[in-house]
Amino acid sequence: MNHFEKSVQDVIAARSSCRSYIEDPIPIEKQNKINDFFKDHITGPFHSTARFILVSATKDDTDALKNLGTYGFIKGASGFIIGAVDKHSEKNMEDYGYVMEKIILLATDLELGTCWIGGSFNKSSFAQKMDIKDNEMLPAVAAIGNKREKRTAVDSIIRWAAGSKNRQPGEHLFFSDTLETPLTQKMAGDYALPLEMVRLGPSASNKQPWRIVKDNNQPIFHFYLQRSKSYSRNFKLLKWADLQRIDMGIAMCHFELSANEIGLNGRWHVADPELSNVPEDIEYSVTWIGQDHANR
Ligand SMILES: Cc1cc2nc3c(=O)[nH]c(=O)nc-3n(C[C@H](O)[C@H](O)[C@H](O)COP(=O)(O)O)c2cc1C
Repeated sequence: MNHFEKSVQDVIAARSSCRSYIEDPIPIEKQNKINDFFKDHITGPFHSTARFILVSATKDDTDALKNLGTYGFIKGASGFIIGAVDKHSEKNMEDYGYVMEKIILLATDLELGTCWIGGSFNKSSFAQKMDIKDNEMLPAVAAIGNKREKRTAVDSIIRWAAGSKNRQPGEHLFFSDTLETPLTQKMAGDYALPLEMVRLGPSASNKQPWRIVKDNNQPIFHFYLQRSKSYSRNFKLLKWADLQRIDMGIAMCHFELSANEIGLNGRWHVADPELSNVPEDIEYSVTWIGQDHANR
């Protein structure tokens, strides 16, 4: 069921990262909607235990956000969404990405600006706010607030550096049967839309690491992750969370919500199809098994 006012595809198309905000507090009705959402929507497809909070400043009191540092990349955010997930759950990063992105889409539907922050933030100050427990980790946060009409110079520079407007063409991301044959729109059939919604998704440094292989004869889609060297390095050296697995959770969120909206149902399943000729830096993640639509 769609919990948004607008259609999922419109919300996904409307979202872009916002790094400059009007400093006014987030209207209380919008805060309430976000807090209500946390009650029912924080389970990802792999059921890792997670919790999320919205930390927001009020008109007279900006203390709530004191010490929550984003190294100058984010200007004037009036709040942050902070989350924690079970450290030991096997697909915790994918679940975290999936759930946080759902919250971000809700915020977008409420016409708030958001920005995922996975690297450029002071992790310990955010962890303190959340009172992180021993069995939990805080992989990334999101800035949230009232959007500025015009982007500031810093925002424009970051967008330019990350190539944020650009997306790879579908033929670089989606394939048929093996990772060697690009999938045409015709071959994708009804699933062309959910795939396009994946393509529009946010990803760390806009690397777009998703590679999706459709089974030639059935609505079965194998999701693969194209690893970027720089991220594997930061992950080890700077103790960042595995941001590219978060990107995968984001893709799953966009794919599932937009498929469901047009009546395509299915489920997630992990079973490596062991396709031939998979390059070393590409790893299997998860499979979408769509219900057979032959009789529709
Ligand atoms: C997991 C993740 C981590 C990110 N971390 C940061 C960050 O630390 N700082 C930042 O300015 N943007 C960050 N971004 C935003 C991306 O740069 C942005 O999504 C990408 O450039 C595409 O642009 P768009 O979101 O406007 O479509 C992150 C995005 C994701 C998905």
